[in-house]
Amino acid sequence: MKDASKNDSSKKNAGYKAAEYVEDGMVLGLGTGSTTHYFIEKVGMRIRDEGIKVLGIPTSFQSLLIAKKWNIPITTLEEHDINLSVDGADEVDVEFNLIKGGGAAHTKEKIVDYAAENFIVIVDESKVKKSLGDFPVPVEVLPDASRMVIQTLEDMGAICNIRMAIRKDGPVITDNGNFLIDAKFSEIESPSHLEIDLNSIPGVVENGIFSQMVDKVIIGTDNGTYEL
Ligand code: 5RP
Repeated sequence: MKDASKNDSSKKNAGYKAAEYVEDGMVLGLGTGSTTHYFIEKVGMRIRDEGIKVLGIPTSFQSLLIAKKWNIPITTLEEHDINLSVDGADEVDVEFNLIKGGGAAHTKEKIVDYAAENFIVIVDESKVKKSLGDFPVPVEVLPDASRMVIQTLEDMGAICNIRMAIRKDGPVITDNGNFLIDAKFSEIESPSHLEIDLNSIPGVVENGIFSQMVDKVIIGTDNGTYEL
């Protein structure tokens, strides 16, 4: 779905910068993806080098494993509220609407990111767009509902593909055991309406439009970062 190896130094700069906003005692939402990987790594370094104490709530098996590698203590939303969530995105527009889910993790990401007191998005410059829509909208669906959901999405004007796995035969299975439909709309006039409309289709678990909650966007470049 995406080439995570691109723009590595920009992603690292964005991820490391976001870690500067982490304060001792915080509960952190740990997003998913190659940019967030650097954020989690830097938080781990701050625990090791500065002795800060934080707890992490992962949004995927990927972020769980990275957090464990860096000895970040893990908790859950059952036990703690989140002070700060940091996450990547596949697209961000000028009004801070996002498309997420290139890594198939948008359902847990949305639960965690929307629950956070503060939500920082970290991206490289290639993700910043005037409006959303170059990237298909990932839609997580219960497998049994996929044909009916595709039909409805096509009626809404989308070109749909069930996301296929690369090193496994057959479809991508999300961390929640579901399928993913990538729905390409020619234009997305109102992200907030589309976010609601997609979730009202029976069988849809969650979609990758994030039209709420973003407090800050950190954009990484080869030489540093700037913020929106
Ligand atoms: C995973 C996501 C990622 O945050 C998004 O795909 C960006 O990933 P990357 O930082 O690797 O470009 O939404 O579901």
